[in-house]
Amino acid sequence: MTQIDFRLDGRVALITGGSRGIGEAIARVYASAGAKVVIASRYMENLKPVAESIAGEGGEITPIVCHMGYTEQIRELTVKTLEKYGTIDILVNNAATNPFFGNMVDAEEKAWDKTVDVNLKGYFIMAQEASKVMMKNGGGNIINISSIAGMSPPPMQGIYAITKAGVISMTKGFAKELGPHNIRVNAIAPGLTDTKFASVLIQTKEILEVALQGIPLNRYAAPMEMAGAALFLASDASAFVNGAVLTIDGGAAA
Ligand SMILES: NC(=O)c1ccc[n+]([C@@H]2O[C@H](COP(=O)([O-])OP(=O)(O)OC[C@H]3O[C@@H](n4cnc5c(N)ncnc54)[C@H](OP(=O)(O)O)[C@@H]3O)[C@@H](O)[C@H]2O)c1
Repeated sequence: MTQIDFRLDGRVALITGGSRGIGEAIARVYASAGAKVVIASRYMENLKPVAESIAGEGGEITPIVCHMGYTEQIRELTVKTLEKYGTIDILVNNAATNPFFGNMVDAEEKAWDKTVDVNLKGYFIMAQEASKVMMKNGGGNIINISSIAGMSPPPMQGIYAITKAGVISMTKGFAKELGPHNIRVNAIAPGLTDTKFASVLIQTKEILEVALQGIPLNRYAAPMEMAGAALFLASDASAFVNGAVLTIDGGAAA
C-alpha cells in the first residue's frame, strides 16, 4: 500500500519559543513523530515543565534558554544544540513579541527596536546559523512562523505586521538561496490562535466579536491546529514544497 511519510524519526528539530502556545504544540507533535527536539525560550522555569511532560510521554527533548533578541545567545543556542544532538535538521523560527498596541505614528523607537530585533533579526540570525549546519549535512528544513498580519496589517499592530511581512519575504528569499543546498524554507501564517500572545484579543469581548466577524469558520484556533501543518512542512510528505506560505486562519485572509 502506498503511504505518505509524516515521520521524523531521529531528526533533530530546534523550536524557538517552545515553552508554550504554538511552539509547545509543535514540539509535542514533533516528539511524537520521533524527532529529537530542542525547545528554546527566555526562561528555564517555563521550558522545564514542558520538557518534563514531553519526556514523560517518551519524547526525546532538551530545553535551552535563549533570548532571540541577542545574536550571541542565538549562536550559543546553536552550539549547545550541536553539543547535545550533533546536528540541526529542522528549525522552527517561532518566538516572537508584540510589545506595542497602538497607532504606528505614536510608537516609541524602543518598541520598533524590540519587535524588529526578536521577530526579524532573531529569525534571520537563527536561520543563518541553522542553514550553515544544514549545508554541511546535505540538507534540512526551515519553518518560519509568520502571521496573517503580515499579509494585511490589523489595526494597532502595525509594527508587528511589518515584521511578519518581513518573515514572508525572508522565507521566500532563503527558499531560493538554500533550495540548491537541499534546504526547504516555508512559512506558516496563523490566524487568531488561543495562546498567551493573543489573550488580550480573545479575552476582550468587543475585540473578539469584531475579530470573529472576519473569520468564516467563526472561531479562533487551538495551538495544536498549527502543529499538523508544521509536521507536514518538516516531513518528507512535503518534499517538493519550498518557499510556500501556508495560511491557517479559518478563512480570514481568503
Ligand atoms: N496567537 C496568535 O493568534 C498568533 C497569530 C498569528 C501568528 N502568531 C505567531 O505564532 C508564534 C507563537 O506565538 P504564540 O501565539 O504561541 O505565543 P505565546 O504562547 O505567547 O508563545 C510565545 C513563545 O515565545 C517565547 N518568547 C517570547 N519572547 C521571546 C524572546 N525574546 N526570546 C525567546 N523566546 C521568546 C515565549 O517563551 P518565554 O516567555 O518562556 O520566553 C513562548 O514560548 C509567534 O511567531 C506569533 O507571532 C500567533
